[in-house]
Amino acid sequence: MKGVLLSGGTGSRLRPITHTGPKQLVPVANKPVLEYAIEDLKDAGITEIGVILGHKGRDEIQELLGDGSSYGVDITYIVQGNPLGLAHAAGCAKDFVGDDDFVMYLGDNILKSGITDLVHSFEAGDYGAGIALQEVEDPQAFGIADVDNAGNVTELIEKPDDPPTNLALIGMYVFSPIVFDAIEGIEPSWRGELEITDAIQSLLDDGQDIDSQVVHGWWKDTGRPEDILEANRLVLEDMQLNRDGQVASDATVEGRVDLDETATIEADAVVRGPVSIAEGTVIGSGTYVGPYTSIGPNSTLEGIHIENSVVIGESTIQTSGQIVDSLLGRGADIGSADEDLPRGRRLVVGENSQLKL
Ligand code: DAU
Repeated sequence: MKGVLLSGGTGSRLRPITHTGPKQLVPVANKPVLEYAIEDLKDAGITEIGVILGHKGRDEIQELLGDGSSYGVDITYIVQGNPLGLAHAAGCAKDFVGDDDFVMYLGDNILKSGITDLVHSFEAGDYGAGIALQEVEDPQAFGIADVDNAGNVTELIEKPDDPPTNLALIGMYVFSPIVFDAIEGIEPSWRGELEITDAIQSLLDDGQDIDSQVVHGWWKDTGRPEDILEANRLVLEDMQLNRDGQVASDATVEGRVDLDETATIEADAVVRGPVSIAEGTVIGSGTYVGPYTSIGPNSTLEGIHIENSVVIGESTIQTSGQIVDSLLGRGADIGSADEDLPRGRRLVVGENSQLKL
């Protein structure tokens, strides 16, 4: 079994965070989303992984993952170029996959339970594909499966107006190489993409059995800023946190706090976990870092009250205000307005930014 990890796409719903980098590298609990996928594949025994690259962030992704050896896997890069759809991306991996079965994993998805059950269930039968499903509240936003009373998949529809169920296809699939024939036979959808959902429907139409697994435990498609914050909350809740850095004797640190050995919490600061603080970061005097917050590397915080937020890193935040439910891009610099200036906020706001003042 091989792995095909999709890291192309445009990341348009995460702009401006993704103007400069790929969305799969946005950190959740101070680890890029893509690394969770590599770990899930490895845990399922899959070590030969093809990483599909788009135009954006090719260099950054290759720089992070390298040849895979630091993760104990072997990575081959496959360039898709324009994001012409998930089925197109899968099709680009045809030579890499050869005659093997493979897991296709969407690189911006993250789930608690891993993919081992999905892989084992597929291997135990004779299936054209295996899909992971989870109930969602907004089925119009996903690929949706209809199943009969015995749990057999009877129909698959991509982002339906009138969903037959609320069982969404989540971003992990297992395929036999027969799927490449199905991909060659499908047409672009209304959104102009070759949909993997349509390729699986075509396998069904050809009489192939489709295995389905309803995934329990949380799953997040990290496509939007609010999804990153929720994924960050879910991961911080579950992960083991190690307090290795320096904490001043009169700082207050409560609950589960992951503090890198090169990070510092200075005098008079308050940190209430679950919180993750990355390398080289200083939580300065008078700062409050509240639950479900991740502060990325080489950042300095002074005086701010911040909670339920992700600071990607290389940031300076020096002001006495409050920041909640926020996603701050790399290099963000937040200070106080000069007292002598007229009242009001002074902003430099990127294209497609979202602010609530
Ligand atoms: O998150 C689950 C959903 O993912 C499924 O329910 C849908 O059936 C499936 O179509 C997909 O929907 P999205 O619209 O959310 O997919 P998105 O365009 O966000 O792409 C998912 C990942 O695949 C993302 O990491 C980018 C990558 N990708 C996407 C496209 C279109 C590529 O590598 N190449 C592509 O051509």
